[in-house]
Amino acid sequence: MSTTARATFFPGGSSGSLCLGGAIGRYAGGILTTRATGTVSMAVDLTALPSPNGSVAALPEDTWVFQFWHRDTSPTGVTSDFSPGLGVHFNDAAPTFLGGIWPMLAQPNVNATACILCHDANHPTGLNMQVAPNLACAALVNATSTSPNCGGSTYVVPLDPASSLLFDKLSNPTPACGVQIPFGGTFAGGIDVLRNWILNGALL
Ligand code: HEC
Repeated sequence: MSTTARATFFPGGSSGSLCLGGAIGRYAGGILTTRATGTVSMAVDLTALPSPNGSVAALPEDTWVFQFWHRDTSPTGVTSDFSPGLGVHFNDAAPTFLGGIWPMLAQPNVNATACILCHDANHPTGLNMQVAPNLACAALVNATSTSPNCGGSTYVVPLDPASSLLFDKLSNPTPACGVQIPFGGTFAGGIDVLRNWILNGALL
């Protein structure tokens, strides 16, 4: 395993391709036997992955590439081969509304004020976010717009960014209804955080 993906063909006389580069860690001595079906599996301790410098833990936002190296035969005799490589990305913990989303709605944007300053009780769309954070969350999650432009759309559909009006309006230069927001400026927050929050259930 390694955090670097690279293709090396037929390394060390093997008949396959090594998909790992950089510092490669191995479960030395951990020889496994395949089942009758030819498959093999192995549990991996993510807090202690082997590396040339001792064991290390997988950290949020790391990508690790895993591959088996196995014995094989070929018409010319005994050889070795490699399984397909498997890249695994470790996500950060799921963002919450209070920890990840509310601070973005309350911060100034580029050429625009903070979302919550425009979106008060008198906002023409009816979307009022100038309230306590838990109420702002409730005004968005599973809540339906009643505005002239976007009425009928749901602001945040948990697990489904593509169906969420808030995500469309922030990420799409030509949203399904109305204009891109923030109105008159550029969103200074993290679209990825918003997407991850929705994908993980849009929790308070
Ligand atoms: C300068 C004032 C202003 C700022 C700042 C602003 N908005 Fe808006 N927002 C508007 C106006 C005006 C509309 C209506 C325009 C439209 O329909 O596209 C709107 C529409 C919306 C809508 C659609 C509401 C609906 O029901 O149709 C959402 C969602 C929204 N804004 C969220 C935000 C978020 C999130 C931010 C901060 C990143 C933000 N807005 C910043 C003025 C603002």
